[in-house]
Amino acid sequence: MSVFDNDVKSWEHLAQTDPLWAVLSSDEFRGGALTPEAEDRFWRSGEEHVAHVISVIRNEITPDFEPGVSLDFGCGVGRNLVPLAERSRDAVGLDASSTMVKRSEARAEECGAANAHALVIDRTIDAEAVAQWGPVDFVHSVLVFQHIVAAEGFELFDQLLDVLAPGGHGFVQFHCHDPGGEFVRAIRELRLRHRWFNSLVVRSRLRPLTDSLVMLYEYDVLELLGHLAAHRIADVVLERTEAGPGGYDVRLYFAKFAGSDAEFDRSGRPMKLRVRP
Ligand SMILES: C[S@@+](CC[C@H](N)C(=O)[O-])C[C@H]1O[C@@H](n2cnc3c(N)ncnc32)[C@H](O)[C@@H]1O
Repeated sequence: MSVFDNDVKSWEHLAQTDPLWAVLSSDEFRGGALTPEAEDRFWRSGEEHVAHVISVIRNEITPDFEPGVSLDFGCGVGRNLVPLAERSRDAVGLDASSTMVKRSEARAEECGAANAHALVIDRTIDAEAVAQWGPVDFVHSVLVFQHIVAAEGFELFDQLLDVLAPGGHGFVQFHCHDPGGEFVRAIRELRLRHRWFNSLVVRSRLRPLTDSLVMLYEYDVLELLGHLAAHRIADVVLERTEAGPGGYDVRLYFAKFAGSDAEFDRSGRPMKLRVRP
């Protein structure tokens, strides 16, 4: 079984055993210990996240940004899907785990969000299935690509950017790495080569995951920008947040060029990039 398939299997297992904790690995969200207050904090974190993302896009890129069809790649239990639905005509969640998709649907029903939908995906984003709600003008993904081995993750990222309509907007988060010194590079090489060693490192950094281990993968930020440029992304705001020793997260807010490929070429393929402090 490939690393990718193995990871997807781990997610399905976590979705069945401890889904909220699988999404936010803080002890208060463990099934056995979950209080109503903690559950409330869990759902509120999605609400606050989505409100923040939309406000950054409005403040930094497009003041009157209003998503029509939002796509949440790796929607999990619907933490962000329902807040997205509240701000969009339709919101569509995609997830590799069928149990996560069922949980998202249940959450949408519980909140009366009839415009929230969720689909199981295999290794590819089915553009036709997504198109049933109309052109996608907002793509969103948080805490997902970091769990997908980079080669497959970049393919999925390309598909997500392909699905985005001209003039559409996006938010994605990736985990990146500092090149570090010789020691850090040696550890990194070992992690890439030996799955058991990577597991050990992830355990020590993230706290042990009891019965299954979800890997943490790193992406190269220049490569990410290259993928954005190749998909006519003309406006990018980049935020860096620290994520433990030797690593950081990159959060990308962006807008796609509103015209055609030819118009983009004629205009010199511009990409405006700002780094948020
Ligand atoms: C940490 S959870 C985050 C869920 C959600 N984005 C949130 O922030 O609440 C990661 C989610 O990504 C999904 N996932 C992992 N690999 C995936 C893949 N290759 N394709 C689609 N979904 C994937 C998992 O099933 C899981 O629901």
